[in-house]
Amino acid sequence: MSSPGSFAFALLVAPDELLLLAFVLFSFLILVAHLSCVMSIPKNHSTFSAQTSSKRSLRAMESEEPQPLLVSFIASGQGAWRIERIDTVVGESLPAADRLEVVESPSPSLSVAPAWVLRGVTSNVRYTNRLELDALQQSQEPLNRPLATRAALIPIRKTAAWWNLAQDERRRIFEEQSHHIAIGLEYLPAIARRLHHSRELHEPFDFLTWFEYAPEHSDAFEQLVLRLRNTEEWHYVDREIDIRLVRS
Ligand code: HEM
Repeated sequence: MSSPGSFAFALLVAPDELLLLAFVLFSFLILVAHLSCVMSIPKNHSTFSAQTSSKRSLRAMESEEPQPLLVSFIASGQGAWRIERIDTVVGESLPAADRLEVVESPSPSLSVAPAWVLRGVTSNVRYTNRLELDALQQSQEPLNRPLATRAALIPIRKTAAWWNLAQDERRRIFEEQSHHIAIGLEYLPAIARRLHHSRELHEPFDFLTWFEYAPEHSDAFEQLVLRLRNTEEWHYVDREIDIRLVRS
């Protein structure tokens, strides 16, 4: 019964059984194809990481998680801000320049050789508690208000002694002893602010602090920086440059 003739004969006499056999064979082939597809997914790295990253961006969208923003402060002969003055409060100074451009990019294209470029990144809060965060969110204004034609860029570096402290010790000095947030809140919403972290980027400063305000609040801003510089927290500042700007 193994010759082609006997196979043709079988087709004639038992078509039902052969149909059943063909159906079983077909199902088996589909099962094998499905299994090989499932088993190849973990091995296929790009598919796997695409799925993970799409989950990550979905998570960010769902929770409206603020994404870190890389910002470059470029001092040269160009830029939206005219540099009014550069005062060295403590430590090594920065070279003079005429104008400043603030670019929300870590590696902006430079059309002219800059006097200096400082980079920082926005981040999550480290010391602010829930009550303080709610108070800040209620009264703080965004950057780029048309009326805010004055700005201050104050790069700050803190001492090794500060960085050697534990988180709870730093919070105690920052708020319980120095009242940084409580003092700052008194000046909102007149002053808009954004804090950039630079230490993790191996930059010359640990922080780039940026403030924008209307000309009539210049005196209030002056008072604010003097109050903060007289606090315990500032004993840990070993480099600070105060750069004042006018949008023009
Ligand atoms: C406009 C009013 C101000 C408010 C509401 C304010 C608020 C804050 C808050 C909430 C933080 C903590 C962020 C965190 O939890 O990680 C902070 C950090 C900081 N602020 Fe201010 N601030 C103000 C003005 C200033 C000024 C005028 C300076 C500089 C002269 C300054 C320099 C800093 C620095 C360097 C840090 C980082 C401290 C650290 O992490 O060690 N702030 N500020």
